[in-house]
Formats: sequence, C-alpha cells, structure tokens
Amino acid sequence: MKTESKSKKSLGEYYSALQLRTDRWSALKIACEQLVQSNSDRRRNEAERKVVELIDALRPIELYWAFPGHDTFGRLGELVTLGRFDVLAITVRNICHALLSNSYRRNPHHHDVEELTEGSPDDESTENATKDVLYFEVLFVDKFSAMQEENLRRTLRSLRRPEDPFLYEPVFVPSLTDALIGVMFNHNVQAVVIRNDLKRESEQTLELLHRYLSRLEEAVLEEVEPKEYGPELCRMIAKLRPELDVYLFTDQSVEEIAGTKLGNCRRVFYNQEDHLDLHLNILRGVSERFEAPFFNALTQYARIPTGVFHAMPISRGKSITASHWIKDMGDFYGMNIFLAETSATSGGLDSLLEPHGPIKKAQEMAARAFGSKQTFFATNGTSTCNKIVVQAIVRPGDIVLVDRDCHKSHHYGMVLAGAQVVYLDSYPLNAYSMYGAVPIKEIKHRLLELRAAGKLDRVRMLLLTNCTFDGVVYNVERVMEECLAIKPDLVFLWDEAWFAFARFGPAYRRRTAMYCAGLLRERYRSPEYRAAYAEYQEKMAGADDETLLKTRLMPDPEQVRVRAYACQSTHKTLTALRQGSMIHVHDQDFKDEVEQAFHEAYMTHTSTSPNYQIIASLDIGRRQVELEGFEFIQRQVEQAMSLRKVINTHPLISKYFHVLTVAEMIPDEYRKSGIKSYWDPEHGWSDIMAAWSEDEFVLDATRITLSVAGSGWDGDTFKNEILMNKHGIQINKTSRNTVLFMTNIGTTRSSVAYLIEVLVKIARDLDDRLDDASSVERKIFTRQVKALREDLPPLPDFSCFHDSFRLSSGEGTPEGDIRSAFFLAYDESKCEYVPIAGRAIEKELAAGRQLVSTTFVIPYPPGFPILVPGQVISQEIITFMRALDVKEIHGYRPELGLRVFTEHALAVLEVSPSSIQELPT
Ligand SMILES: Cc1ncc(COP(=O)(O)O)c(C=O)c1O
Repeated sequence: MKTESKSKKSLGEYYSALQLRTDRWSALKIACEQLVQSNSDRRRNEAERKVVELIDALRPIELYWAFPGHDTFGRLGELVTLGRFDVLAITVRNICHALLSNSYRRNPHHHDVEELTEGSPDDESTENATKDVLYFEVLFVDKFSAMQEENLRRTLRSLRRPEDPFLYEPVFVPSLTDALIGVMFNHNVQAVVIRNDLKRESEQTLELLHRYLSRLEEAVLEEVEPKEYGPELCRMIAKLRPELDVYLFTDQSVEEIAGTKLGNCRRVFYNQEDHLDLHLNILRGVSERFEAPFFNALTQYARIPTGVFHAMPISRGKSITASHWIKDMGDFYGMNIFLAETSATSGGLDSLLEPHGPIKKAQEMAARAFGSKQTFFATNGTSTCNKIVVQAIVRPGDIVLVDRDCHKSHHYGMVLAGAQVVYLDSYPLNAYSMYGAVPIKEIKHRLLELRAAGKLDRVRMLLLTNCTFDGVVYNVERVMEECLAIKPDLVFLWDEAWFAFARFGPAYRRRTAMYCAGLLRERYRSPEYRAAYAEYQEKMAGADDETLLKTRLMPDPEQVRVRAYACQSTHKTLTALRQGSMIHVHDQDFKDEVEQAFHEAYMTHTSTSPNYQIIASLDIGRRQVELEGFEFIQRQVEQAMSLRKVINTHPLISKYFHVLTVAEMIPDEYRKSGIKSYWDPEHGWSDIMAAWSEDEFVLDATRITLSVAGSGWDGDTFKNEILMNKHGIQINKTSRNTVLFMTNIGTTRSSVAYLIEVLVKIARDLDDRLDDASSVERKIFTRQVKALREDLPPLPDFSCFHDSFRLSSGEGTPEGDIRSAFFLAYDESKCEYVPIAGRAIEKELAAGRQLVSTTFVIPYPPGFPILVPGQVISQEIITFMRALDVKEIHGYRPELGLRVFTEHALAVLEVSPSSIQELPT
C-alpha cells in the first residue's frame, strides 16, 4: 500500500478522517471565495492552485460518501477548468451548507448536480424538503464501471415510492478493503450489498483512512482465497458494525454456501439481478431496527380517547387541566406526557412485570442490539439491576468476589443476599487519591486461595465494575477465561453502568461482557480450541499456584459454562430518561438454573407502577443506537481526543492543568502495548487498537481526568466554586486533586470549544492573580500546589472482616458475613462511637482492641466505602480519613466519631456466633 505521505505532517494532527473531511470542505469554501474575490493575477493563480489542491485532496475521501456524489464532485473539476469560479463558489457553498446542516439527508434534490450549482442552500423550506423521510446510504461493493454505477443508481431511484419511510442513496466501492474503510468511515451506511466481483486491495492512498484497517486482524485476510472475499467481508462487517444489514450476491452453489458463517448476512442472492427484491429487503432491514414497539404503542394509546376509572389522576392530564393552581405544570411539560401516563396494562400496552406484548418485543429487540440472550428493562436504575442480579444468583452463604470500590448498590446487594464477601483490592493511584481496577493476578490469587481451602464449590460470582467511573476498562475476555480455568461455572456480574454505549464502538465492544460471552461460547465449541487445550493441559499438568498465577490460563472446554450478566445505566451514556437501565444476560444455564429466581428477584425490586415514559425511552434509546450509535460514539471519541490534545498542549492551560495520560492512570505492568498516551507531540496519535486488543487495562478516552493541583484548588473547590459557580459547567466526580470531565454522545465540537475557552480564561485569571500577588501570597500558592501534589495519604487496602463475622477465621481465606454485621448494628446497645479527632483511637488500638465498623462509611470523594459493616478499622484507614479533608462522609458523624461495635457485643459473638449459620461445604 502506497500512502499519501507528502501531507502526513499536517494530517498527523487529525484524530479522525471525519474531522479532516469537514475541515477540507471548509477550506475549499474559503479558497473558492478568495478565488472569486481576487483582484490580481497572482492572487487568482494562488487561489486557483489551492482550490485544485483541495479538490484533489477531497477526492479520495468522497469516494466513500453518497453526497455530494461522484457527478457533482466531477463537476467541481470541470468548473475550475472552465473558469466558472462564481458557479464553483456557489456550488461549494451549497455543498458545505448541506453537509453542515444535514439538509442533504432531508432534501433528495440536493443530490442533483443542477440543484447544487444553481439552488440556494436555504431551499430546505421549499416543497423539495421531505422532513419526514429518513435518509441512509447503502454501500455496494463491486468493480462497477461509471456507466454501471449510473444505471444502478437510476434503477434504484425508479423503485422509490412516495409512501416509503426511508430514502437511500448508493455508494460504490470496488474492493474488500474499501468496503471496510467505507463502513468504518461513513456512518450513514446502514446496509452493505456485496457482489461477486470484488478485489481485495484498495487504491486508496490516504493514510488516515487506512488507520481504520489497522484495527482489524489483517492477517486473517492473507489466507482468504478470492472466491471467499464475499463471505469473509460479511464476517468482518459483523465484527465491526454488527448492526448493519448485509446482502451477498454469489455464484457459488447453495451447497457451497450453506453452512458457511456469513456474519449478519440477511439474505443471499444467487446472482440474479432482482433489484426490486433487493430494494424491498434493504428497506425492511432498516425498518426492523427503526421499529420501537413500546414507544409506538404508547403514542397510539395517547391518541385514543379513554375514560379513566382507575388510579392516577394525572393520567390524561385531568387533575392538571381541572386545577387552578398547578396549570403551570401542564404548560411546562405539554399535554403528551400526561396523555401517555396511565396505570393500564391493556389497550395495546403491556406490563413490565409480566410482559407479553410490546414491552416483551422491545426487550427482545434490545437483546438483539446489545448482543445478549435476554434483556430486561428496569425503571429504577442500575442500583436496582445490580441487586436483582445478585439476589437471583447468590444464595445465603455463597462466596462472592467483589471489587471493593464498586458502587454501593453491590454492597447492599451482598447484605440482602447474605453473601460471604471477598473484597478485592484495585491498584491504587495514590498520587490522585483514586483507585484503578482489580488486576487479574489479585483475582486469580483469591480464587486459588479459596480452592486451596476447599471452598471453590461455594464460590458463586465475580463482580467487577467495567468501566470504572474514571474510565479504566478491563480485559473482559481475559478475566473470564482465566477465572473459568479455575472455576468453570463462575458467574460474572459486570457492572457496566457507564458502558452502555460501548457495544457500538468497534474497539470498545471487544471489552463488553455480552460480546466476550458470545466470543467465548463460540471459542469453546471449536475443535481448534479443544486441540489447543489438550496441548495446554499437558504442559500445565501438576503446575503449582505460583506457576498458575504467572500463566495465561485456559478453561476446560468439557466443563466450562459461560455465565455473564451486565447491568447498564442506559440513561448515563445513551438516550433514556433518568433511571432507565437494562440487565443483559448471556448465561448458558439461565433457563435451567436461574430463570425462576431471577423472576422472583425482579419482582422483589421492581415497582408495580413502573414508569411508562422510562420504558418508552429505553425502547427509543435502543432504536437510536442501532441506527446511529456508531456515528455518535465516533464523534464523541473524536471530541474527547481533541479535548485531551488541546489541554495538554495549550501553552496557557497546561501551566496549571493537565489531562492524565494512559500511563498516569494505568501502571506500566498492565500495558503490554507500551502505549503511554493517546497523543503526544512526538509520535502523534497512538494506535489505540493495539492497546485495546492486548493490554490488561485500557483507558476510555471519553472520560477525561484533569489534574487541577497546579491551580492550587482542590478538586471539590474547583468543581463547585470555579466551574459551576463562575462558568456554569457541571461535572460529577472529583478526587482531592482531579476533576472528571465526561463527554457523552451529545457532546459537540462547540461544547468542547466552550470548555477550552473557560479553561483558558481560568488560566489567564490565575496568571493575573499570581502576577499581582505579594511574595507571601505566592509562597502560600506554591505551598498549596505542593500539598495537593505531594501530601496525599496512601489509599488504604481492605483491612479484613472481624473474626466474629467470618465462618472460617482460622483457614486464612478472607470472606466475611457482611449481613450479620449489618443487622447486628440495628441494636443500638451493641454500638458506640469513637472520635477520630484526638488520640482516642490510637489509645484503643495500642491497648489491643479491635475496632469494628458497624456501618458503611463512604466519603465523597472518592465515593466508595472505606469501611463496611464488620470490617476491622486499621490505622491506615484512620490516617486516610484524617487526611481526606472532605465535607461529605456518609455513615460518619463528625460530632460523635466512628460507629463501632462494643467490645461486649463482639465478645458475645465470639462465644456464640448465633446469627451466623455454619453452612455445609
Ligand atoms: C458503577 C456504578 N454502578 C451503578 C450505579 C448506579 O446506577 P443508577 O444511577 O442507574 O442507579 C452507578 C451510579 O453512579 C455507578 O457508578
């Protein structure tokens, strides 16, 4: 592959080809205007040269887009040759306007050359605009001549009917490589038609576009025979964008193609050119994703007149319209929301608790979209989803391994389920008072320890947060594989509260629970795996635990069961109303072992009046990601990358602030790829795919942790007093010296620009303040900065459960009975307070007393429990709490101190651990 290296330096600045495309069109518009306005030959020649250069630079990019299209693009060149610069300038202006405003999607006439060369960009308001018709593009892969392309385009247009809900335009690419670039670059593509005669290599020379390919296992292609290009392309597209519909034309016989894996191929055509059939299939494929059964049922219901003789005076807005005092509520929300409010489950609606109609269908569609076997909607957040899954899987006495900085809903879930909890320590980031995630070595170590103690049969579940609040992402495939090698039926609960979007980003998807469950399921069925396992088994025979800790383990295909659950706060990262969440299940044993318990758990935690608006928003959120998730996530990553780059290179901002790099958030030992940051001035952009395929942890680029220590403000002050009060910027999480900016699918280039503007302003003000400061003031500032950078107490590890709450105190495994401790604390007479201030605690500890927490103690930040019920309070924890210097600590009353069990209460338990039942092992 020969790539365009001449302009590499400037291209290296671009993270994405989309940004490059937009910027090149804008540059062309400006150059055309300069060409029209130039009043000297020299200027005109210069402008003309620039215009020609830009048209040439855009040509390879435009190959993958239907708009402005081949013809129009060709016309630009002609207009230059003819010297019709005025028409050229109008045409380019119209194209830019149509691209920026997306009007080409609504106005099919924008695809006509004549319209663009003569029309005005504002004629969206004319009858040409078809606002209700939804637009997409279809990628045709074949070696077409220009004439064949034109004929096919005409034929497809002739098949359009006024009642069609969608309108599409074809894009033609000649090779398999171009098809892959096309599906990754052009987010308008919703369907791909692969025809017989495709070659492999692309003539594309733009390096930036080839970057997409580095994200694929190119080695796979080396072994593929030309007649296999079509089927192989189907499979590759299914890996990259599983939501797309693929149609394959083949001249292979039915027998040859039958049994071949064809990814998401909806239909195989045997070489006949039935355009109408193809056209109808394409429309139907997209309409299946567009359908939103519950949202549609609800809008239908809202239109039907009904008399309300059941609960809910607000339904149909009756209690509001009849009111003298709350009419403003009606004015604010509008009537539709009340017309759609009802407690009825009939009339075309459905019951979330026992779905048979549109909710059932909506959940099935969500399962398809998110790659699960079953999906369940929840209307009270992932806090509830987590408890449902824990209750469904864990029986009292079961051992559960949990990352200890997980969301509090899990800790409460453990209390409710009566689990024996083994807390796992994440690697600490002491310099920022933050935790990372739990290393695989720690997880394996705990499992092997439990196996040595003969307790593996009681180990039920591993519960991890992926990604963490701060964006640390696990290697899900590796964690599941290695754990299953030790405990073949281990159940995994992945808290993906922050990761619902991940399914729709090709790199992200590989680190989601549902994708990995599907992958492993298939892997363990394959003969290749069985052969590899046989070899591994021979090599590993008799290996000790030390060796097992160092080796990448493989599960036994005869024994392994793939059992994964993921809880996602759809509302956090995708379109859904607050509290809209989903539970996704890929559990081989769900039907036999879990379904009934799951049903009970769902009933335990779900309201009998679930909010219909939330359910409808989940349905619509699913529709959106299936049709435009890829585009939105691509843009989100793009914005986040720009933000990272600008902050770390801006001369003024970088004096006081710094975005933590991958290396600063993930220690070297977990980054095999060696990638240290997403961008640096020396190397440009890193190939993140290398990191995402092999590193133990990667960093979600869309979450930006900004170190604010250099400004002299702590995270909390910076968040509240500077960002919120002075500039109206809201953020969620802080640590002692950092704040977290989260981008989302709604983040735009303008919002990023605004944030940068604000940071520049803050930095400038700081500059001014320091300039005017006295030497004493400057000294104070330097001291504050130093304290924020250096005076950070090490994060304490989980100490241990007190022996009174452990079944097997002598056996050395750490699991504890959090539930008994939790309920013991209900008895006030068994509890007392020890103040943190002064030396009271040290005195108690020196006297040999074990102080045991009665409750969860959760400081914000960092927002995870530094103490749980039954946990022994260590000196490190006290030191940490004293140094924390935060105002909000749940479970702690500063005027009283830490709530602990009395010595007497613990002594009684030691003699007779009445509330803890010894379970058969
Ligand atoms: C990791 C994690 N899990 C679960 C939750 C709870 O999610 P929800 O707000 O949807 O109840 C949160 C909330 O912040 C979270 O951070």
